[in-house]
Amino acid sequence: MASKQVPKQVEQAPPGLRHIAVVMDGNGRWAQRRLLPRTAGHKYGVDALKSVVRGCIAQGVPFLTVFAFSSENWNRPADEVSALMDLFVQALRRETRELAAQGVRLRFVGERSAFDTPMRELMQQAEDLSAANTRLVLNVAINYGGRWDLVQAMQALQASGEPISEESLAQHLCLADVPAPDLLIRTGGERRISNFLLWQIAYTEFYFTDILWPDFDEKSLALAMADYAQRERRFGTVHPQAPGLRVA
Ligand code: IPE
Ligand code: IPE
Ligand code: MG
Repeated sequence: MASKQVPKQVEQAPPGLRHIAVVMDGNGRWAQRRLLPRTAGHKYGVDALKSVVRGCIAQGVPFLTVFAFSSENWNRPADEVSALMDLFVQALRRETRELAAQGVRLRFVGERSAFDTPMRELMQQAEDLSAANTRLVLNVAINYGGRWDLVQAMQALQASGEPISEESLAQHLCLADVPAPDLLIRTGGERRISNFLLWQIAYTEFYFTDILWPDFDEKSLALAMADYAQRERRFGTVHPQAPGLRVA
């Protein structure tokens, strides 16, 4: 049997790779394997995110969307939820300036009303401070659910009285102004979406890795990109698109 070619890391993002979405999973298991509390994994997860941000900037990827907290994550034990909320506040306080200085524009997508006022203010401040940046748009999905996004878009559409179409619905989704993800990476070994972007991933390429999120870094990102570079995206067509194949 021919051995499968292992893709090499890439130095620059493959052409057409504009938007990477990441389900940052495996923090709890990373910590448990080290006999640490699960929250330690979340803490180290912030460093992994910083490394991936650096990787996107270095390789010229303009959009990164990360899943930080799902609408279902509220169902975790209360002490883990409260530790996560504390960590978000700390991370925003510590990292916003540095990210903004790197040219990152921060945006938060998800239902914000669930957060307390200090957290909502920090989110707003981070968005305001970085609003003019253009090097990398970092969308942080927090209290986000793909189903919630679709429902809020439908409600907005209904309120506006616009006719329902793919285009009009897409315009009311949280990431309306961002191209659909080209590549979705999920760390931590699970092969599922867990209510992350639903509409937007219709033609996204998936990359699943067993690496636990705190261990994921720029190099792991480069490997994911190299894997993506080998994919053939057809969007329902055939390739190479043969003239005369189309049925009139
Ligand atoms: C992802 O890591 C972070 C959040 C969901 C907030 P997990 O906490 O889900 O880690 P595992 O999957 O239990 O290892
Ligand atoms: C998805 O991971 C959410 C985030 C990474 C923020 P989960 O750990 O919550 O997903 P499930 O429960 O394994 O599906
Ligand atoms: Mg998990």
